[in-house]
Amino acid sequence: MSIMEVNDYLILLVLWAHIMAVTVWIGGNLFFLFVLRPVMRLGGSSPSFGARIGQLFKEIVEISLWVLIITGVILIFDRLTVLGSTTYGLILAIKLFLFSFMAIIAYALGKRTNTTTPYASRWRDIMPNWLWKGLKGTQAVMERFISPTNVLSALGPIIVLISILLRIIAEK
Ligand code: HEM
Repeated sequence: MSIMEVNDYLILLVLWAHIMAVTVWIGGNLFFLFVLRPVMRLGGSSPSFGARIGQLFKEIVEISLWVLIITGVILIFDRLTVLGSTTYGLILAIKLFLFSFMAIIAYALGKRTNTTTPYASRWRDIMPNWLWKGLKGTQAVMERFISPTNVLSALGPIIVLISILLRIIAEK
């Protein structure tokens, strides 16, 4: 085994920060989905309790997002050598596309944290009006089955899977 170079230690740190941010954000989303939301739906807690949770989580998500983007860009530079590979570039593009989608939903949800019912996120509350109206045919399905928080929670683990795939391709 060869001795690690300085650059390897830097990448170790960057990857660590990247994965810590992923853990915090995705873990937070899943905790909200599987623990907080069911409990809050039972009612009983004061409205300000929900609003406070929303505010605090929003701050944590903002930090995680910035860490993800900054460390992600550094990781891309580190992979520039393999970026010539079409497959890697394509899968990275898919990852970034899904990430943008997640970031937009998270941002829109965060904007309405003054709401007293953060457990009941609805598309109509976070989408611009013209977009919501344009989705006429699918509105009912979206409201019934795929709330913004559900989509957010599902996308995280999918992006983790895609990222591991990236690593495997890069090391081929
Ligand atoms: C929800 C957002 C994100 C998640 C869940 C995520 C997840 C991950 C994970 C788990 C890894 C480690 C893969 C491994 O070492 O096996 C990784 C690596 C990486 N991430 Fe992210 N990431 C996210 C956002 C971003 C963003 C915004 C960028 C770019 C700006 C980015 C660029 C990268 C790159 C280039 C790697 C290295 C892949 C390789 O080994 O070739 N990630 N990501």
